[in-house]
Amino acid sequence: MDKILIEGQKPLSGSVKISGAKNAVLPIMTAALMAKGKSVITRVPDLRDTKTMIRLMEIVGAKCTFDSGRLEIDGSTVNNPEAPYDLVKTMRASFYVLGPLLARFGTVKVSLPGGCAWGPRPVDFHLKGLEKLGAKITLESGYILAEAKRLKGTEISFEFPSVGATGNIAMAAVTAEGRTIIINAACEPEIVQLCEYLNDMGANINGIGTMRLVIDGVDSLHSADVDIIPDRIEAGTFLTAGALLGEITLEDIIPQHLDLVLLKLREAGCRILTTTNSVTISPADSIQPVDMTTAVYPGFPTDLQAQWVALMSLAKGSSMITDTVYHDRFSHVPELNRFGANIKLENNTAFVPGVNELIGAPVMSTDIRASASLIVAGLAAKGTTEVSRIYHIDRGYEQIEEKFRSLGANIQRKNSSA
Ligand code: UD1
Repeated sequence: MDKILIEGQKPLSGSVKISGAKNAVLPIMTAALMAKGKSVITRVPDLRDTKTMIRLMEIVGAKCTFDSGRLEIDGSTVNNPEAPYDLVKTMRASFYVLGPLLARFGTVKVSLPGGCAWGPRPVDFHLKGLEKLGAKITLESGYILAEAKRLKGTEISFEFPSVGATGNIAMAAVTAEGRTIIINAACEPEIVQLCEYLNDMGANINGIGTMRLVIDGVDSLHSADVDIIPDRIEAGTFLTAGALLGEITLEDIIPQHLDLVLLKLREAGCRILTTTNSVTISPADSIQPVDMTTAVYPGFPTDLQAQWVALMSLAKGSSMITDTVYHDRFSHVPELNRFGANIKLENNTAFVPGVNELIGAPVMSTDIRASASLIVAGLAAKGTTEVSRIYHIDRGYEQIEEKFRSLGANIQRKNSSA
């Protein structure tokens, strides 16, 4: 298994292009299955998760070609509305095929995702929402079977906003009979882009970007093309590294998607300059401690919580970081403590004392964002860090070592058989 080797404390400088957003492209790929035609998706990041989703597209019968960030999906041959356990267990986002395939075929079979490194991660909102739209849901040998001749519009109110459930239900509802209203809808930029894409395919969704989506059902969708928005989480990860290691510029981004993150980085003492499509960060002379609580968009993203903990571990003072979205998402804490960070965990809050320096160590990745936080910590730590189980990082970051190397970091991939 590959590892990432880092010689830390090399200053960073220069600029880096941010890739297309993983969490936008995955649901958009499944939306493309609803049309009997060819959709072209550009700025598709070359990630393990995108490749897993391409495999799933092919299993359901779509034809895909992927080359240099351009993905063509031909939905005219889709004929097998089933997502097998082998794929869903490696990538929960496979569950996104549930709504689109049910809408198109009136029946779909998708493996129930199990738990994951951040706790139980239920899918009850997805299932209750589909039931309200008139689907019959049964569980058969670990698979969800959903059936409905044609879904019927209704009002669906989520207890709190869920990104996945909003996307899945919106995709199911666009061709339902009549009007569907989703209350407490997620407002994440990735869901906004999904809804805009569905409208480009002929859907009729109003209230996009608000917590109340109004969807008037149409008979069918046609194919459409889309350019994926930049990945605000990849951008936020590079910003935490810049905050510690040198002035860097992120290009091809949408700074508004990072409003709160930029505000918090300024509070930590960093200087930030934005243009319409770039951000330049200059590190603080000393990082000030800044408390953080994650929340749904436009709050601070749970997907940047681990990287923020890594940044705060080098602050001049103590901070408290609470995850309200995923209470168990702290597997990076014991690994960061291997660098000497001395973080204490109580329920869903990390108490980060802030230390003068981190010392490189062998550490282990446990999920995508935890891995990113270990890389940020390794870049800032004195000496050598070896990050193992890096297949997690490959799920969500395109060419992360190449990008950091281009900024001056000493980071490489080591093939363990070498
Ligand atoms: C998506 C993102 C993930 C991000 C998360 C929160 C993708 C592919 N993944 O995951 O990177 O960390 O949003 O921003 O876009 N919940 C329920 N029942 C449900 C669904 C969710 O209780 O049926 C709960 C979850 O346990 C969690 C909260 O709702 O506490 C938010 O989860 P959700 O927004 O659904 O996350 P995902 O869509 O799985």
